[in-house]
Parts: sequence; structure tokens; C-alpha cells
Amino acid sequence: MFPLRPQSCPFNGICVLLPAASLLQLMDVRQVCCEFLQSQLHPTNCLGIRAFADLHTCTQLLSQAHAYAEQHFTEVVQGEEFVGLSLQQVCSLISSDKLTVSTEEKVFEAMIAWIKHDKPARVEFMPKLMEHVRLPLLSRDYLVQIVEEEALIKNSNTCKDFLIEAMKYHLLPADQRHLIKTDRTRPRTPISIPKVMIVVGGQAPKAIRSVECYDFQEDRWYQVADLPSRRCRAGVVSIAGRVYAVGGFNSSLRERTVDVYDGGRDQWSAVMSMHERRSTLGAAVLGDLLYAVGGFNGSIGLSTVEAYNYKTNEWVYVASMNTRRSSVGVGVVDGKLYAVGGYDGASRQCLSTVEEYDPVADQWCYVADMSTRRSGAGVGVLGGQLYAAGGHDGPLVRKSVEVFNPQTNTWRLVCDMNMCRRNAGVCAINGLLYVIGGDDGSCNLSSVEFYNPAIDKWSLIPTNMSNGRSYAGKSQMIKPHVVFLCHTEE
Ligand SMILES: *[C@@H]1O[C@H](CO)[C@@H](O)[C@H](O)[C@H]1NC(C)=O
Ligand SMILES: *[C@@H]1O[C@H](CO)[C@@H](O)[C@H](O)[C@H]1NC(C)=O
Ligand SMILES: *[C@@H]1O[C@H](CO)[C@@H](O)[C@H](O)[C@H]1NC(C)=O
Ligand SMILES: *[C@@H]1O[C@H](CO)[C@@H](O)[C@H](O)[C@H]1NC(C)=O
Repeated sequence: MFPLRPQSCPFNGICVLLPAASLLQLMDVRQVCCEFLQSQLHPTNCLGIRAFADLHTCTQLLSQAHAYAEQHFTEVVQGEEFVGLSLQQVCSLISSDKLTVSTEEKVFEAMIAWIKHDKPARVEFMPKLMEHVRLPLLSRDYLVQIVEEEALIKNSNTCKDFLIEAMKYHLLPADQRHLIKTDRTRPRTPISIPKVMIVVGGQAPKAIRSVECYDFQEDRWYQVADLPSRRCRAGVVSIAGRVYAVGGFNSSLRERTVDVYDGGRDQWSAVMSMHERRSTLGAAVLGDLLYAVGGFNGSIGLSTVEAYNYKTNEWVYVASMNTRRSSVGVGVVDGKLYAVGGYDGASRQCLSTVEEYDPVADQWCYVADMSTRRSGAGVGVLGGQLYAAGGHDGPLVRKSVEVFNPQTNTWRLVCDMNMCRRNAGVCAINGLLYVIGGDDGSCNLSSVEFYNPAIDKWSLIPTNMSNGRSYAGKSQMIKPHVVFLCHTEE
């Protein structure tokens, strides 16, 4: 009678009470039961609760449990409940645009797992399910290496047709792909896109192409499509849901080139190059423009600044800074761009000076100096304030952190990090400031720490990059000069 097996309904009392309350038309009791079940939603029980709500026409609970399952899909499919679903229930879940998945691979893998759970009975449902797997959104490598090799696909003509459709999609030039009109090319649009930090390129010890993501919900590192070419010391930012890797160093030349990452397709492609070669530049988004600030071109440190308009695919020079700055950190607060510290090759000095750019006046001017010289500081913005974490002055690598308040034009020191770091990546998420990797002057660091301004404290996250990496065999430490966090909740 009850759709919940005892182990998946730890709320036996409720499971009996709710139908009884309905029967007796005790609507308040029924409401309390629904609210209780809603408060108990968990990846291991949400599908059972969804089925229960469906059976007893608890409309609100049904939609809450369904939304919960969509948002926690990756965890939900690992639970026992998922493989126990009916065909119709699986279809209803995987056909949803709102499914939260880091890549479409998760959907493909979940579907195969569901079939294999009872292969003799379920194999005939393959075509029906494959209709809802958005194969064109998978990477070409995954299609060729995994999907095409899957016996369940090989044995079904309809499934092979879906695979051909996906291959065709990949073969078409990007501007003609819209000609393939199916539900399967539509990217999923989850309510809250998973918060992912992306670490682009780096040195290990030469420049590398690898790109790693950290999933905050799952506390896990995974790999996405490689950069088209090797890059370290690049600037990395995101505009309009895409991630740009700007300039950098390929182990022999400083780069003018720019690559852009499309997460929906898990693909990198090149856009217009900058006018100048720049590594260890600062990159930031202000308004609709991406700014490339200072850096090193292979012979000198740069004071020049260029801005990229992604709508017109053009770079234009804007006003130069007052100082040449390589290994500069940049951040945007209240419509102003800040260039923090760095190294001035002309005077051979690490800098404590900071400049502010006003895009309306197209002008740079100095603001208050930091308390100390910092080149390669990790710069990030949290709560309308600009943080400068670590960095170095000559051989001395710092663990101290200071924060700038633009309203009062003052810097103040906050708690030190756990480790001395320079050239680390920085990003802000959920009110915390994360500092990723870098080096301490003798070792490259795989650890990540975050600052909580409410308690003025730095804590290390449980998983280190190289330890947490999901691909085995590569234990080399990656020094991520560039890090970006895609929190696409705009
Ligand atoms: C750290 O990485 C750099 C490249 O960024 C490499 O040259 C160096 O050998 C590494 N150091 C250690 C101690 O692994
Ligand atoms: C760096 O880029 C230059 C110019 O594109 C190329 O000739 C060179 O082979 C690249 N070096 C490496 C190590 O990839
Ligand atoms: C760096 O910039 C200077 C000044 O524009 C230029 O003379 C020099 O050739 C550039 N170096 C490289 C390697 O592009
Ligand atoms: C992460 O790295 C730090 C040193 O950078 C080390 O002390 C710590 O034990 C590592 N954590 C894990 C979980 O391996």
C-alpha cells in the first residue's frame, strides 16, 4: 500500500498519519504532516517522498520533492531510490530543463545505471530514455570514448540515431548548429546553477592545458575540457556565463591570445587576441567590458590597459596606469577597478601602491597605499571591500591579509592566512573569500583556504587540489596562477 519501503521512510508514523488525516478530512493535520516531510527532504529520501506525495495528492509537497530531486540530482542518482523508479518517473526527472548537473554525462550515466539495475526487463526502454539525454551537449571525446562504446547503445538503432545526431551537431560550425532543432540541444537551466570554481591552466612545472573544477556542493574536484593551448599566468574572468582565459605564458612566449569556455558544451574556443602580449596580468569585468591590466610582455612590465567588448569581439586601449605593474592583482568595487601592488620592472621593486580606475572619466589615480609591498597578492572582493592576501616582497612570501574600504580610503589588516602564499587564485562565494594554491617560495601549494569575515578567521577546505583530483595517474602538483569561480546566478 505505501510506496515507501521502511528503510526509505524513516517517518513511519507520518506515513500512516497523513493518509488517515486525509481520510478523516483533518486538513490541519495533513498540512503539518506535509510540512514535516518537506523539512526532512534529503537526497536519499526525496524520490520516495515525491512518490508518496503523488499518491496522496499533496500537490505542494510533490512539487517541492520534485524540485529537490532536480537540484540534488547528482546525489539522488547514487541512492537506492533512483534505480527503483518506474520508467515514467525516470523520464519525468531526466527530461526536466531544471536538472542541476555539472555536465550532461551525469544524466547519461544515471540512465545507464537505471537500465543495468534490471537489464532484462529494462533494456527495451533504452530508446525512450535516450530521447531525454542531451547527447549533443556532451564533449566529443566522451561521445566517442564512452557513449559509442556502450553496448546498450550499439544494440539499438534508435539510440545510434541519437548518437549520429550528436556527432552531426559537433561537426557543424558553431553558427549552423541551431539548424539541428531538437530538445536535446537545449542546455539545461537549473534554478541555481551549481557553484563551481574553475582553475584554468597553470604550471606543473611547464605550462599546462588542464582545467579543473571544484564543486562546492559535492566537495570534489573534477576535470573539464582542456585549454586549446598551454597557458599559465593568464587572467581569468567570466562574462555572460562564459569564462575567458586572457594572455599568460605558454612556457616559451607571453601570449596575446584569449580563449573562452562554454560550460554548457564543455568547449574552449579562441576569440580576438589582445594588442599586447601579457602574462601575470590582472583581469576583471567592469560593466560590459573585460579589462586586461598591466602584466609582463617578455621584456618589460606594462602600465597599459586594454578592454574587450564580447559583443563586438574587439579590444581597445584605455588609459594607462601611472605605474608599470606585473603580477598585479585587480578587483572591482562600486563601478571602479583597482590595481593592487605588483612588481615595477623599471625600479625593480615590489609595490605597495594601489590605483583606482574610473571608466567614465577614463582615468587612473592613486588611492591609499597598502601597509606593505605585495607582488602576486591574491586580490578579491567581498562585501564591498577589496582584499589583498599574501603576495611577496623579494624573497619574503607573506601570509598577512589586508582589506581596503573605498569609502574611507583606508586599509586595515585582518587575520593571517594559515599559509604564506603568492600568485594564488582568489574568489568570493557565499560570503566567504577563497584563496587557492599559489606557492610559499619553496613549495607549490595544493591547499585551499577561505576567510569568513564574520569571525575574522581563515580555514582550510578538507580536499586539496591534487589529492582531490578525480583523474588518477597525475599526481603532479599544479600551480594554478589563475582561478575563477563561476557563480552564474546573475
Ligand atoms: C613549483 O612549480 C614551478 C612551476 O610553477 C616549478 O618550476 C617548481 O619546480 C615547483 N616547485 C616544487 C617544489 O614543486
Ligand atoms: C608557444 O607559442 C608559440 C607561438 O604561438 C609557439 O610557436 C610555441 O611552440 C609555443 N610553445 C609551447 C611550449 O607550446
Ligand atoms: C614589450 O613592449 C615593449 C614596449 O612596447 C616593446 O618594445 C617590446 O618589443 C615588447 N616585448 C615583447 C617580447 O613583445
Ligand atoms: C593539504 O595540504 C596541506 C599542505 O599544503 C597539508 O598540510 C594537508 O594535510 C593536506 N590535506 C589533505 C586532506 O591531504
